[in-house]
Amino acid sequence: MNVSQIRDKFIHYFVAKGHTHVASSPVIPQDDPTLMFANAGMNQFKDIFLGKEQRSYTRATTSQKCIRAGGKHNDLDDVGYTSRHLTFFEMLGNFSFGDYFKKEAIQFAWEVSTEVFLLDPKKIFVSVFETDDEAYDLWLNHVPANQIVRFGAKQNFWAMGDTGPCGPCTELLFDRGERFSSAKDPYEDESGERFLEFWNCVFMQFDKGPHGQVLLKKPSIDTGMGLERIAALKQGVDNVFEIDLFQNLIRDAEKILSRRYEDHKVAFHVIADHIRSLSFAIADGAILSNVDRGYVLRKILRRAVQFGRRLGQEDPFLHKMVLPLIHQMGSTYPELKKEQSHIEEMILNEEEGFLRTLKRSGGLLQKAFEEAKPKNLLEGEVAFKLKDTYGIPFDELALMAKDMSIKIDTEGYLKEEERAKEISRKGFEVKEQLSMEPLLEFVQQHGPSRFVGFDTLHTNATVIGILHNGQFVDTLLKGQSGSLILDETPFYAEKGGQIGDVGSISAFRVDATKTPVKGLILHEGTAEDTLVLSQVVSAKVDYALRKEIEKHHTATHILHWALQQVAGPQVRQQGSYVAANRLRFDYNAQKPLSDEELKLIERICNEKIRENLAVTTYELG
Ligand code: GLY
Repeated sequence: MNVSQIRDKFIHYFVAKGHTHVASSPVIPQDDPTLMFANAGMNQFKDIFLGKEQRSYTRATTSQKCIRAGGKHNDLDDVGYTSRHLTFFEMLGNFSFGDYFKKEAIQFAWEVSTEVFLLDPKKIFVSVFETDDEAYDLWLNHVPANQIVRFGAKQNFWAMGDTGPCGPCTELLFDRGERFSSAKDPYEDESGERFLEFWNCVFMQFDKGPHGQVLLKKPSIDTGMGLERIAALKQGVDNVFEIDLFQNLIRDAEKILSRRYEDHKVAFHVIADHIRSLSFAIADGAILSNVDRGYVLRKILRRAVQFGRRLGQEDPFLHKMVLPLIHQMGSTYPELKKEQSHIEEMILNEEEGFLRTLKRSGGLLQKAFEEAKPKNLLEGEVAFKLKDTYGIPFDELALMAKDMSIKIDTEGYLKEEERAKEISRKGFEVKEQLSMEPLLEFVQQHGPSRFVGFDTLHTNATVIGILHNGQFVDTLLKGQSGSLILDETPFYAEKGGQIGDVGSISAFRVDATKTPVKGLILHEGTAEDTLVLSQVVSAKVDYALRKEIEKHHTATHILHWALQQVAGPQVRQQGSYVAANRLRFDYNAQKPLSDEELKLIERICNEKIRENLAVTTYELG
């Protein structure tokens, strides 16, 4: 059974069980600042689990593009060295949004594993969360007790990130036999190579916030089965890189690299994996850069280039792997074909840049080792910098060090690595938030806030909610800060990088307008006199500031258009910040703009502004 057939069989099974087939979301999350890459099938359903959004279906199934590099789930350094880790993979999933729960989820997982994919029931072990007796008992209907293990939170409590939906889970593990290890059961199998986890079913029950967990209104189901892992089991191969899709890709890589796979398996694995992460991320609009997600992608590319160099590649080669990848995956994911030249160019540019850096850093490497000689020790900090900044893998440094009888301060190196991880995690932590639960209840009770600010900037309204210190109250006293909710409001809430309106609501000064949960417009500020619930107030947006913000908003559209005229139609917006006194516009590009191009863009923008065209406003969800 090839990869495509496996994908289809899984989806068909769940469609037949009443699930709606939903397309994969982009691998670059569109509106979730807590997430670096799509890391699980459930990401696109996060708001449904949290009760913030409803859809026409309560059961769904997907094959989701995922990247696990950087952020909470990070497998980058393992790729190439284990039989199962990938930075890019496809996750097959079935989801229930307050529909079925543990019993059916376990039943489905068992049926799919043993009746659809015909795995040997005697070799399937399952793990449950240590206190989840219900799941344990449900599994006893399918497997004997000696095939059930209990683990703590590290293995059997799943969370998509530091915040968000989470819950205990049950995993299905396949015993691949003694050739992997002598471990008798998953407890003994520390490396996880013998008892291969191929499916995780999460019993979504909580929303984790910065201050703890709250129960979700409706217990739900989120499952994830690694497509490449089930393919390896089905095709009877020991390593995910031996499945049909990867082997085809590797055959093409052999031609491009003029090397034999048999002699250099690790390097081929790394290259075959990394080209997938890079191509899918770029196709979905990512850029390679020095910060956040862009930096993780840059590290992935550098790691691939380094492994290529071990095979003698001194010139760019990675971009040549895009076409073979399209041959393997382009029909399932047409975005690859559509963005082919853009992906190739971006990878080629980055390869060239890195090879230039390496030429320069060749000197650095030599210098670092020369300085290490008197003490026979390469400092951990230096080693980490060589890896992190110049992408020289640790094991390569270790080999060189060994050749020169120099030791590497591994402890110092690991400390630096931990520090860098902490920084990258922090970068993606969500800010302090109000507790969502009461706000969601409020919207459910009162319906969404009515926005009237396109027609008027000044209206009379009724105060229907007052928040003080995160709690609903009846009165806000003079001098107290808090938030007001009105039955209708002309205040535009911060959205998509555009700051919200400021102004006044009778004796309340509005410093910011926000939407912490879908449908709710919250006016934050300070009471200059006492305000009470049900009071009729006069809500007035600061007109001058709104106008300035609008001008900058329009200017982002003009700038985007001008950029496309000059830098090409592939330029796409990555984000923006629109305020009353400035704007920032993030976009993707293969190379920086020249001075001439910048001047041209400025001229085109100014010309457009002088044309003084009419602006039409649309509220786009
Ligand atoms: N969301 C389940 C998993 O990724 O394992």
